[in-house]
Amino acid sequence: MSAIHYPHSKTLLRQLSRELPQITHGKGIYLFDDSGKSYLDASGGALVTTLGHGLETLIDSITHQMKRVSYVNGTQFTTPITEMASQKLSARAQAIGLDQVAYLSSGSEAVEAALKFARQLWVDRGFPAKHKVISRTPGYHGNTLYALSASGRPHYKTLYGPMLATNILNVKTPYGYRCPVDYETQGAEFYAQELERVVLENNPDTIASFIFEPVSGSSTGGWSPPRTYFDRVTEICKKYGILMIADEVLCGSGRTGKFFASEHFGLKPDIAVLGKGLNAGILPVSAFIVKSSAVDTIKNASGNLQHAQTYMHAPMMTATVNAVLDYLTEHHVLENSVAVGNVWRNQLKERLSRHPHVGCVTGIGHLCGVEFVQNKVTREPFPIAKKTALKFAEFALKKGLILWPNYGQADGTNGDLVIMGPSLLMTPTEAQACVQLLDECLQDFFNS
Ligand SMILES: Cc1ncc(COP(=O)(O)O)c(C=O)c1O
Repeated sequence: MSAIHYPHSKTLLRQLSRELPQITHGKGIYLFDDSGKSYLDASGGALVTTLGHGLETLIDSITHQMKRVSYVNGTQFTTPITEMASQKLSARAQAIGLDQVAYLSSGSEAVEAALKFARQLWVDRGFPAKHKVISRTPGYHGNTLYALSASGRPHYKTLYGPMLATNILNVKTPYGYRCPVDYETQGAEFYAQELERVVLENNPDTIASFIFEPVSGSSTGGWSPPRTYFDRVTEICKKYGILMIADEVLCGSGRTGKFFASEHFGLKPDIAVLGKGLNAGILPVSAFIVKSSAVDTIKNASGNLQHAQTYMHAPMMTATVNAVLDYLTEHHVLENSVAVGNVWRNQLKERLSRHPHVGCVTGIGHLCGVEFVQNKVTREPFPIAKKTALKFAEFALKKGLILWPNYGQADGTNGDLVIMGPSLLMTPTEAQACVQLLDECLQDFFNS
């Protein structure tokens, strides 16, 4: 075995012109390939592995359940493990005013199901004209056609343009590095006014929901909104009857130091969506969580939830959620992670900000983004043709550091950043190793 590339691999690889190392195993924050080379997994893949790799007790707990029953359909049965997971997730969701949980497999599916739930709720409440969705740019909610339609990534949409939904309205994402007014003092009002204007210009009676990431993940590198932003958003959504959907696929499940990122802002959305860290990368599971008052409305009107997929509530998925939630609770993971996360981000800020092409270092909890610019004074991005973030992430991977690159955030075309989301169990020594390696990679890459 060795690094493999198309067409020698019979896996339809997404990267058709790159050699991919073959990972044989992982332990904690490290992955190992078949040549014995180690990689510090600073991004948890695509911000997924919140608990690192190779946690035997966690995996034993899931396989124990899998040996009991393979699959039952959620319209015919529920299972003790599903009920247990829902009790625990519902208890955590009380912090943001939600309590009824539905499980799916991927973030994109849960986003679509949440948007469809919002639509069904409006119809069942007697407002069938409500169907439009407001989303933000830059923003990402998934890659199935409707989730992609709702994503504020113009460059991802070019190819599929004619296939995408047209009932999506757009507003700006709070993004401190490129905000035209003073972010903290004027930002909340700046973004809120735009939201209200878009609502009024598009007949509020036809708008069903507003979807957003409470902390914007891969699209801005981990920017939190200005302090009072969500107070204003809540006010506007309540005034015009628009349901708030918090997409916490990336920023939820402990990534920001609280189980729900919404908790940082006292935000009480109508629907929350989880994925990634909810399953810690062990099996694909996502979820959307709603209010029982909304479920009562549906029960009394159309009677049942319309959305359906084969693996909804499948016990191997809920066993994963149950095991992850137990691990977080029993090992006080969130409480213990905050101090390491703060030191790690502060060190990254201090060490990397000195670099001539690092425009900004931002983030919260175990989430940190580094934006690259051509000119630090003007904040001018590199031209996209240079593929700076992608090439930097490839360079770092060769040096044994895993980062998640993204691009296009500056103006819809240009802009380069890398984002990190390491295991919440990262030790202070591993955090230091991450900072050191990233600093060295930056110096070597931009000087070469
Ligand atoms: C905020 C957000 N929502 C939704 C998704 C889609 O999740 P998935 O790739 O599991 O479909 C992602 C994936 O990166 C995400 O970051």
